[in-house]
Amino acid sequence: SRRPRVLSGMQPTNASLHLGNYLGALRQWATMQDEYDAFYCVVDLHAITAGHDPAQLRERTRVTAAQYIAGGVDPERSTLFVQSHVPEHPQLAWVLSCITGFGEASRMTQFKDKAARQGTEATTVGLFTYPVLQAADILLYDADMVPVGEDQRQHIELTRDIGGRFNSRFGETFVLPKAFIPEATAKIQDLQDPTVKMSKSIGGAGLIEMLEEPKVIEKRIKSAVTDSGREITVDPESKPGVTNLITILSALTMRPVGQIVQDFEGRGYGDLKKEVASAVLDTVIPFQKRVRELLDDPAQLDALLATGAEKAHDVASATLRKVYDRVGF
Ligand code: ADP
Ligand code: NA
Repeated sequence: SRRPRVLSGMQPTNASLHLGNYLGALRQWATMQDEYDAFYCVVDLHAITAGHDPAQLRERTRVTAAQYIAGGVDPERSTLFVQSHVPEHPQLAWVLSCITGFGEASRMTQFKDKAARQGTEATTVGLFTYPVLQAADILLYDADMVPVGEDQRQHIELTRDIGGRFNSRFGETFVLPKAFIPEATAKIQDLQDPTVKMSKSIGGAGLIEMLEEPKVIEKRIKSAVTDSGREITVDPESKPGVTNLITILSALTMRPVGQIVQDFEGRGYGDLKKEVASAVLDTVIPFQKRVRELLDDPAQLDALLATGAEKAHDVASATLRKVYDRVGF
């Protein structure tokens, strides 16, 4: 029997991943490689839903792949690939879009939020159908588990709904995936507005970018918004800033939150920030070094990605053949 399979991916919409991507996604990917047959992709098809620059996209796709490896994804043990290198993704997405309800897709909160921010005229059809492409990404590989952040839960549910619908209409074809949401690091918040999650779409001084100058990162942590009062305790409601810093420290050092609270009894926010900054830099500095090494040898990186695409294509093409046959193509 095969090892259970995981699949996950991130968009190359920025050059740098941020700490939320690293703690909420990438680090879990690395730890899952032994137990699971892992597929990790750079989802560049998803990155063009809102306008983009081609040369920049090409560059960011490679930098993102390099960050996967720097974050611990091992291209020998896992299948590391770029989504657009495997043509079955949009091919399956079309079939799935024809069994997805317009109303069903309209209920996706991430779409509703983004569309509301941009306005209907600036919102593309690609952004609307993006969760269907995401379902194809997952279903192509018979993924059992999809490690994602809380914000993706609804998309994984949609994937299960669409996959299950296909199975009951056309015959058992797809494995229905489960979302895997690691509890402790599920959500890293923005440093400037700790009531919202750290996100590239918000950007600014609230973001810790993995490829940012260490000095800048340090400064951002030191000027993170804390809360009134002086006590270092975990309370997401009344102390979101301090809670976020403790969450980050705990995730990076593997120290339980309760222990951190105890260690900081009677100490101030300045001390906490200093320790958070040092823990972040301990992770970020070697990460940046590894990314630079990988980017210094573009031929080697491209070869790794070509091998990954071949491995992914073997699996994806077998699934698509089955789907086309069942649909009547
Ligand atoms: P962003 O929100 O910056 O656009 P993405 O939506 O591209 O990031 O997310 C890529 C991965 O990182 C997903 O698995 C997502 O759940 C995770 N992720 C994104 N932001 C955070 C965060 N602030 N805390 C934890 N995980 C996050
Ligand atoms: Na997002």
